Amino acid sequence: MTTRDGTTREKVLILDFGGQYTHLIARRCREAGVYSEIVPFNISPEEVGRYGNVKALIFSGGPRSVYEDGAPHPNRELLELNIPVLGICYGHQLLAEKCGGRVVRGSKAEYGRTTVNLVGDSKLFSTLPKRIEAWMSHGDAVLEPPEGFKVTAVSEDNLIAAMENPEKRLYSVQFHVEVKHTPLGREILRNFLKNVAGCKFDWRPLDTLGEMVRNVAETVAEYEKVICGVSGGVDSMTTAAIIQRAIGDRLHVIFIDHGLLRKGERELVLESLRRLQIENIHFVDASREFLTALKGVRDSEEKRRIIGRLFVEVFERTAADIDGVKYLAQGTIYPDRVESGATGALTSLIKSHHNVAGLPERLGLKLIEPLKDLYKDEVREIARALGLPSSVIDRHPFPGPGLAVRIEGEVTAEKLRICQEANAIVEEEFRRAGLYGSVWQAFAVVLDSRWVGVKGDARSVGHIVVIRAVTSEDGMTADWYPIPAELMDRISRRITNEVEGVVMVAYAITSKPPATIEPY
Ligand code: XMP
Repeated sequence: MTTRDGTTREKVLILDFGGQYTHLIARRCREAGVYSEIVPFNISPEEVGRYGNVKALIFSGGPRSVYEDGAPHPNRELLELNIPVLGICYGHQLLAEKCGGRVVRGSKAEYGRTTVNLVGDSKLFSTLPKRIEAWMSHGDAVLEPPEGFKVTAVSEDNLIAAMENPEKRLYSVQFHVEVKHTPLGREILRNFLKNVAGCKFDWRPLDTLGEMVRNVAETVAEYEKVICGVSGGVDSMTTAAIIQRAIGDRLHVIFIDHGLLRKGERELVLESLRRLQIENIHFVDASREFLTALKGVRDSEEKRRIIGRLFVEVFERTAADIDGVKYLAQGTIYPDRVESGATGALTSLIKSHHNVAGLPERLGLKLIEPLKDLYKDEVREIARALGLPSSVIDRHPFPGPGLAVRIEGEVTAEKLRICQEANAIVEEEFRRAGLYGSVWQAFAVVLDSRWVGVKGDARSVGHIVVIRAVTSEDGMTADWYPIPAELMDRISRRITNEVEGVVMVAYAITSKPPATIEPY
């Protein structure tokens, strides 16, 4: 039988009911070794069949109440396919409602860390202690389990925290097994995948490398060329490396320096491209053009718009000089493409890459996106196998508009210099302390506000630099990171001593929400 992806690989489908953790569920399955994809909540049984070897369905969380008008419900027939189902949070309530149980607005809402008592002998919990810590986020509750179901976990408030019908292979949990605040959640998910769904755990992202290279080689005819824009980030560099493997010197790489890169980044990217033996590198130093266009512009959104527009212009100009190009390769990855949760409005939508939106259409090129089904960690694994340097692979995320988003108000040459130097110091000191890999991002921001400084007897005013460090799993939410005092002290001293024009270093201690990670 021909499946959607042409393979018989075992997979789990996650029905997206709009929960904020849908991508996390998919990632956790893959980390365990089972390939998973996010699908619209209203997927039909026939469509499920087209996926081929589907070992389980997972119903995600979601913001609605199952009994509300217009609330998303799955096709009832999915429960008759004899495919195991795991419902999580809203998914747990759906399963109850669909099978004839009772879901009501809970007398008490449960949010955050809770303790759950495991009762009975569920295959989900067989390896766990009888009391576990679990992350809850719900106002509704299952009051009565459906007929044929037994309760397998109870919360502190005596609400049904898990239930199952083992004969029908239907299982559900009120708490979120996919978040790290449920420390044994991964084990529960693994137990479901192993003991209930009978998965073989054979997903290895690296196995797809050969497939990706072959696909590109088969897609692009022998006389055709591919252009690929690189930013220095792991996604675009890995894309370039894959295309290079597939078609060699018919790959043309475009690298535009908009002047807002991190210190030493230009050299690092060029050196990495050379090491990948990419022959056709079109490097454009457009920094002067970008800085001129940004002159006098103070508004953040306006800055982003100007940078985005100019980037497309420079890219088009550069691409126009290369003959015989038929394809544009982009480093789009799975979460770029499949939105879920609050932004996905209950269906899995396709979004264009936010930094270079519209480029393929404007250039009249067909798109190649070899990484489109992978998560960042999986891309990193492939990047390692392709020989990319760890300085590229493990580098913190960096926004497309570059340091412009870390400079308050106008991007002047002075503030840009301060921002570059200060960011380099933060990065260097985090690495030296062995903490670079412990945070999602750590960076420096330059404010317009000044602080009065003293040097000997002389007074001078200087800029304020704000240090921000956060931990995060996907950038959607983030916790501020408590930088050890000695490291903070070293960073602060070095910035005020070494970066001319800075008098004060401050420390941002707010999580996301309410504050975004990047300030502007
Ligand atoms: P915020 O600041 O929205 O950022 O909390 C979440 C993550 O996205 C990165 N970011 C961007 N990346 N273009 C990008 O490619 C952008 O315009 C952009 N703005 C923010 C940010 O660094 C963080 O990792």
